[in-house]
Amino acid sequence: MAESLNGKIAIVTGGSRGIGVAIARALVAEGVQVAVTGRSAAHLSAARPRIEAAGPGSVETLQADVRDYTEVERAIGATVARFGGLDILVNNAGVGIFAEVAEMTPEQWAEIIDTNLTGVFNACHAAIPHLRRRQGGSIINISSLAGKNAFTGAAAYCASKAGLNAFSEALMQEVRYDNIRVSYIMPGSVATGFSSGDEAKGADWKIAPEEVAEVVLNLLHHNRRSLPSRVELRPSKPRK
Ligand SMILES: NC(=O)c1ccc[n+]([C@@H]2O[C@H](COP(=O)([O-])OP(=O)(O)OC[C@H]3O[C@@H](n4cnc5c(N)ncnc54)[C@H](OP(=O)(O)O)[C@@H]3O)[C@@H](O)[C@H]2O)c1
Repeated sequence: MAESLNGKIAIVTGGSRGIGVAIARALVAEGVQVAVTGRSAAHLSAARPRIEAAGPGSVETLQADVRDYTEVERAIGATVARFGGLDILVNNAGVGIFAEVAEMTPEQWAEIIDTNLTGVFNACHAAIPHLRRRQGGSIINISSLAGKNAFTGAAAYCASKAGLNAFSEALMQEVRYDNIRVSYIMPGSVATGFSSGDEAKGADWKIAPEEVAEVVLNLLHHNRRSLPSRVELRPSKPRK
């Protein structure tokens, strides 16, 4: 029997745009109380009514940069204080800066690794004690097919996502006997403003953000006797 998500409590990092909004909407539609984080207060304010409209679950928006451990810890503490606990952590916040290694600045390298990899450590480290307190929960990391299929001009991004895959697999083994289920999703191209800034670009063939959200719900509803720990999600018919 699939477990109901109604009344569960979730935090979605980077929930103010793109895939994160779709995941937050899908959770709220199932009656989950959802806190979303982001860097920009304006993006969070714009996202809030869109997420609330998917109700019945409640929504909280929290400004917190995943690169900063103190901010992440504060956001997770605020979520627990507002809703009474934490059951689900979705590590979705990520950045894509694409340049060849010789041209990429050390600051750009740091921004990618600090957001896509260290940011996930920060949120997991702050969240795990709260998940343990509830006798279990779920952590879902949004990785990328770039984590296994490296390509030119993307060394930092591919390395951050390959690192995230290894991190997720090690963490999965560390916490599974605490009933904390760790999975990661590796989407191909998704129609969001990611890197191009144009959500409509390639929308006819790319994965829709709602389809990534559907995988998140499937993982959360999956029978607890087994664990789909890694999901590859591709456009059915990618551009040739
Ligand atoms: N789009 C794709 O083709 C694709 C494919 C595979 C995997 N992914 C992965 O999916 C995830 C979401 O991507 P997306 O396409 O939805 O991107 P997006 O539309 O650019 O949205 C990124 C979200 O992450 C937030 N964010 C960025 N840096 C942050 C930080 N330091 N702290 C907190 N929040 C931060 C942004 O908040 P602000 O609004 O405040 O900046 C925004 O809400 C990323 O991890 C990405 O690597 C994307």
